[in-house]
Amino acid sequence: MIEIKSEREIQLIREASHIVALCLETLKTQIKPGMTTMELNNICEKIILEHDCLPACKGYEGFPCAVCASVNEVVIHGIPSDKKKLKNGDVVSIDLVASYKGYHGDSAYTYVVGEVSKDVEKLLEVTQGALYEGISKVKPGAHLGDIEAAIGDYIKPHGYGILEQFTGHGIGRSMHEDPAIFNFGTPGTGPILKEGMVLCIEPMVCMGTNKVRILPDKWSVVAKDNKKTAHFEHTVLVTKDGHEILTTL
Ligand code: MF3
Ligand code: CO
Repeated sequence: MIEIKSEREIQLIREASHIVALCLETLKTQIKPGMTTMELNNICEKIILEHDCLPACKGYEGFPCAVCASVNEVVIHGIPSDKKKLKNGDVVSIDLVASYKGYHGDSAYTYVVGEVSKDVEKLLEVTQGALYEGISKVKPGAHLGDIEAAIGDYIKPHGYGILEQFTGHGIGRSMHEDPAIFNFGTPGTGPILKEGMVLCIEPMVCMGTNKVRILPDKWSVVAKDNKKTAHFEHTVLVTKDGHEILTTL
């Protein structure tokens, strides 16, 4: 069952989402070679707390930090560390969730550290492009499969791997609500979207294989071929006429 949110609930999700966007925007000007992923975590956590929000990832199923910081072959759920120093040529995906008065906003962005090769730039461009391609299909009356297919069809011609075991999701009072949103699918299938639904759309893409393993830290999801990966996510409201991206400034 996909919940329809009330105006009040949408406003609280909008507030939380706005602070998530503020964190991710701030990092754009701050990420440099030599920084640690724990420093990135701390910048975000400070912004979240300063704005009367809570870092919802911290303590979620035992996750220890405010953000997921996933470097290079780590696709998602990397744990920030003061031992993990970013170096020129890395990519780092930051995924974070803030809650405001019990309601959540969720977004992710993959940053380049210093300069990366053209093929890595392409991976990021395509992954972000796939996110916006999916979002462009969000409107009342659309099938969820329309969004899923748009994402997958955008990525597949590039030969990249799309994670199959992890999906986007609904969001609201919980960080993860129905429906699961795959990053590939078939148009005209799945539930029909209605005004007031709130969806987190999040392509997770690998330069090579989509086969992943979990590190002994029990969280980090790593591409088995150790090639680079990307992850972009927005929290999106289904509006009367189409959609509104909530995780923006
Ligand atoms: N923000 C992630 C998502 O997109 C989930 C983070 S897992 C956590 O669904 F444990 F860090 F919270
Ligand atoms: Co999410």
